[in-house]
Amino acid sequence: MKSPISSLQSWLPLNIFLIISTSVLISSTSATTIFDIPRLSPLGGILQDPETVFSANVSDDFETFYYNQTLDHFNYMPESYSTFQQRYVINSKYWGGANRSAPILVYLGAEAPLDSTYLTAIGFLTDNAAEFKALLLYIEHRYYGESIPFGSRTEAFRNASTLGYFNSAQALADYAEIILNLKEQLQAQYSPVIVIGGSYGGMLASWFRLKYPHIAIGALASSAPILYFDDITPQDGFFSVVTKDFREASETCYQTIKDSWSIIDEVATKPDGLSVLSKTFKTCDPLSSSSGLKTNLVWMYARAAQYNHPPNYPVTTICGGIDGAPPETEILDKVFAGVVAYSGNRTCYFNATQNISETIIGWRWQVCSEMVIPIGITNNTMFQPRPFILSNFTEGYCRSIYGVLPRPQWVTTYYGGHDIKLILQRFGSNIIFSNGLKDPFSSGGVLVNISNSIVAIHTVNGSHCLDMHPANQTDPEWLVIQRKAEVNIIKGWISNYYFNLLAAFRQ
Ligand SMILES: *[C@@H]1O[C@H](CO)[C@@H](O)[C@H](O)[C@H]1NC(C)=O
Ligand SMILES: *[C@@H]1O[C@H](CO)[C@@H](O)[C@H](O)[C@H]1NC(C)=O
Ligand SMILES: *[C@@H]1O[C@H](CO)[C@@H](O)[C@H](O)[C@H]1NC(C)=O
Ligand SMILES: *[C@@H]1O[C@H](CO)[C@@H](O)[C@H](O)[C@H]1NC(C)=O
Ligand SMILES: *[C@@H]1O[C@H](CO)[C@@H](O)[C@H](O)[C@H]1NC(C)=O
Ligand SMILES: *[C@@H]1O[C@H](CO)[C@@H](O)[C@H](O)[C@H]1NC(C)=O
Ligand SMILES: *[C@@H]1O[C@H](CO)[C@@H](O)[C@H](O)[C@H]1NC(C)=O
Ligand SMILES: *[C@@H]1O[C@H](CO)[C@@H](O)[C@H](O)[C@H]1NC(C)=O
Ligand SMILES: *[C@@H]1O[C@H](CO)[C@@H](O)[C@H](O)[C@H]1NC(C)=O
Ligand SMILES: *[C@@H]1O[C@H](CO)[C@@H](O)[C@H](O)[C@H]1NC(C)=O
Ligand SMILES: *[C@@H]1O[C@H](CO)[C@@H](O)[C@H](O)[C@H]1NC(C)=O
Ligand SMILES: *[C@@H]1O[C@H](CO)[C@@H](O)[C@H](O)[C@H]1NC(C)=O
Repeated sequence: MKSPISSLQSWLPLNIFLIISTSVLISSTSATTIFDIPRLSPLGGILQDPETVFSANVSDDFETFYYNQTLDHFNYMPESYSTFQQRYVINSKYWGGANRSAPILVYLGAEAPLDSTYLTAIGFLTDNAAEFKALLLYIEHRYYGESIPFGSRTEAFRNASTLGYFNSAQALADYAEIILNLKEQLQAQYSPVIVIGGSYGGMLASWFRLKYPHIAIGALASSAPILYFDDITPQDGFFSVVTKDFREASETCYQTIKDSWSIIDEVATKPDGLSVLSKTFKTCDPLSSSSGLKTNLVWMYARAAQYNHPPNYPVTTICGGIDGAPPETEILDKVFAGVVAYSGNRTCYFNATQNISETIIGWRWQVCSEMVIPIGITNNTMFQPRPFILSNFTEGYCRSIYGVLPRPQWVTTYYGGHDIKLILQRFGSNIIFSNGLKDPFSSGGVLVNISNSIVAIHTVNGSHCLDMHPANQTDPEWLVIQRKAEVNIIKGWISNYYFNLLAAFRQ
């Protein structure tokens, strides 16, 4: 992955489709602040193997368009009417057509540019287009990729005055406008729309269904931690799942990792201790503190858990390295063996890279304004405790960067989340919350069936957004079954919709 500079590390994006190479570790060895406010994010890449994606042949069936989008949907001041070009992509190869009111599957873009690698990575749409005879529509999220207001990224990201239009409510309204506009252009007003997204995009999909039921008849929300806001989910949910994943993979591996932190601290306090650690972990740059090293390790374990995808299962890979070291090996050498197993043989490790991705930059604003996901670490985990302290996050981070304060309760005020079963069982319908329970973000996901049509489909051994990946012959049976269940539920929604549509016309 292109690398986040260290101080941003703690807010890695949720995004699943961010392409991250497993072989590149993220942060800088000089990181010291990262852990001051531990949050995680999710990160990473849906794709453990970026090569697969890059080599995929993006078909000519994808056509790119731009929509003149309204800057501010929610008031009527003159400047709100200014527009920017919002990118969307269509694949109509399999579409049954407007005359048959054939369905439209809409991928709601999340915190990443909607480039061609992204499109091929979203297998759920391409794999099912033919069966649904669906039109595929992908919409880029505002402030990412080419969908930038104010004429340029520099202007758009200048300060909070221009970033203020960058939020989920505006994004959902953008999607609503584009979907309606496209249906009008295609004269497809009766084509049922299903919205689909993963991670942050999955949250958007579920919220879109709740806010715009007249536009989307249903939503597939993959690995959407809509309950990781306010105090709904315990702060340590994320790292508890990371811990559980490692412990289930191997008790000795878990114990080695758990024991390693205090040993790192102990070595670091000795004279010359940092250079010993630098040597032990073959760091590309000399360590200036032990916290930089610990941060890199924490994120490596977190990423391995979140993207613990078949067929490689990186958690198993790391534990294979740790447990595979000869029994008399020192704990830190075992931990390093885990790093090598995960990252491969390299001349050095934990290289700091200069590039900060658009995702990192955009998501940093989002977490400092609206998407306040309080991830902390308690002693319930295999990590050293690091609580999430809102005032540190606000004062030590967000205010200094943007001069504005996060609104940690806005998501639950605007979309809900508290007592979700009680609230949604008689309000709303047609949402699938899919999760893989190895994914640390599943701790903030909807894991119980709320009603007949707001359902939770999860897999015990699945990881982050796995169901969105392109189908592959090597897929385990449980993944095939999960995807099939999702497709069948969506088919049910569509056939009910057609039934009602016919009935309406007969009257
Ligand atoms: C929070 O900020 C206070 C004051 O700066 C500091 O003492 C404390 O260590 C910080 N806590 C964490 C978990 O970063
Ligand atoms: C992609 O497919 C097209 C047509 O099938 C072919 O002409 C082109 O060379 C392929 N590109 C790559 C990079 O494989
Ligand atoms: C979008 O805006 C551009 C620039 O203002 C204008 O040239 C173009 O005609 C508009 N396109 C549509 C479809 O309205
Ligand atoms: C769709 O229906 C209209 C009106 O009945 C007809 O003119 C048109 O040819 C049809 N289009 C297709 C692609 O069948
Ligand atoms: C943002 O920058 C513009 C232009 O430099 C300035 O007019 C505006 O006051 C700034 N807003 C904030 C919140 O700093
Ligand atoms: C790394 O190098 C060691 C020793 O040279 C070798 O035994 C091991 O198989 C290599 N591992 C990988 C993943 O290439
Ligand atoms: C470390 O990253 C820099 C660019 O950020 C790159 O030029 C260099 O080759 C990398 N070093 C290693 C050993 O990977
Ligand atoms: C950094 O990003 C720029 C622009 O996206 C790209 O051209 C460059 O190759 C990247 N550098 C590295 C070391 O990845
Ligand atoms: C974990 O932390 C709590 C509260 O700080 C403390 O009461 C408890 O004893 C700790 N448990 C362990 C096993 O350290
Ligand atoms: C929810 O209901 C569906 C059937 O509609 C079922 O397949 C699924 O296993 C249920 N989920 C849970 C968590 O019980
Ligand atoms: C999950 O994976 C473990 C380890 O491979 C296996 O023992 C278990 O049966 C799997 N569980 C399910 C429900 O597939
Ligand atoms: C299936 O997965 C394997 C292993 O990740 C990969 O090498 C292969 O290219 C994939 N096949 C397709 C068709 O994507």
